[in-house]
Amino acid sequence: MKGWGKWKLKHEKPNWKEKAKKAVAKEAAKHVENGFILGLGSGSTTAYAIKEIGKRIRRENLKIYAIPTSYQAMLQAIENRIPLTTLYENLEIDLTIDGADQIDKNLNLIKGHGGALTREKIVASASKKVLIIADETKLTEKLGKNCPVPIEVLPFAFPYVKRKIEQLGAKTYLREANNKVGPVITDNGNFIVDANFGVIENPEKLEIILKNIPGIVETGLFIEMADAVLIGGKIGIKELRKG
Ligand code: A5P
Repeated sequence: MKGWGKWKLKHEKPNWKEKAKKAVAKEAAKHVENGFILGLGSGSTTAYAIKEIGKRIRRENLKIYAIPTSYQAMLQAIENRIPLTTLYENLEIDLTIDGADQIDKNLNLIKGHGGALTREKIVASASKKVLIIADETKLTEKLGKNCPVPIEVLPFAFPYVKRKIEQLGAKTYLREANNKVGPVITDNGNFIVDANFGVIENPEKLEIILKNIPGIVETGLFIEMADAVLIGGKIGIKELRKG
C-alpha cells in the first residue's frame, strides 16, 4: 500500500549491476555537447542514460535533438523532455549512446536482445561516434558464447531464412512475445529469430554470409561499429577504445 514503504531485508545485497549501469550511463551523458544530434539506443542501460541526458538538457539549457532507435527510446525521450528529430531532417548524428548484449575485445558486439537491432544499426552507422555502455557481464573473449545472435526477418521469408541459418550450423528460435500470443513483432513489423551459433570464430565473415540471405532484414552482429565502450564493474568503470 502507498506510504507503507518496502521492507528492506537485512540480507538484501546491493544490486551492483544496476549501480554499474547507472554509473556508465551518467558518465556517457557527460559526452553530450550543446548542439549535438544524438542517437538514443534501446535497452535498460540506455534508459538510464536518457534520464541523465534529459537532466543535463534541462539543467544546462542544452540545444539537443535526438533520434530514438525504438518506440521504447522514443517514449523515454519524450518523458524526459528530449526534443526528437529524424534521419529525414538530420542525417549526420554526432554521437550515439547504446547498450550491448555481448562485447568482444575488438569491440565487436552482439545486439538486439531487446529487438531493436535494425534501427540501432542504422543509427549507429549514421553516427560520427558510437559509445556503448554496459556492465562487465557483457564482456566476452569471443562473441556467441552463451549468446544467440538476434536476426530480424521478414515474416514472409521466415521458413526460408530459418532453413538457411540452420544450414550454417545454428539452432534457431523464433522469439515469442510476453503478454501477447505468438511471435514478437518488431517496431518494423518483422519477426526476430535468435540464432545460436555457439562461439563465433569469424564474426565479420558470418555477418557477410547472413546479410546475403534474402529475407534477413538485419543481424545483431555489430562489426567495427563501436568507437568506445564504457564498462561498469563491481569496483568502478573503465573505458575500452578501438585499436
Ligand atoms: C536492444 O535491442 C539491444 O540491442 C540492447 O541495446 C541490448 O539488449 C542491451 O540492453 P540492456 O542494456 O538492457 O542490457
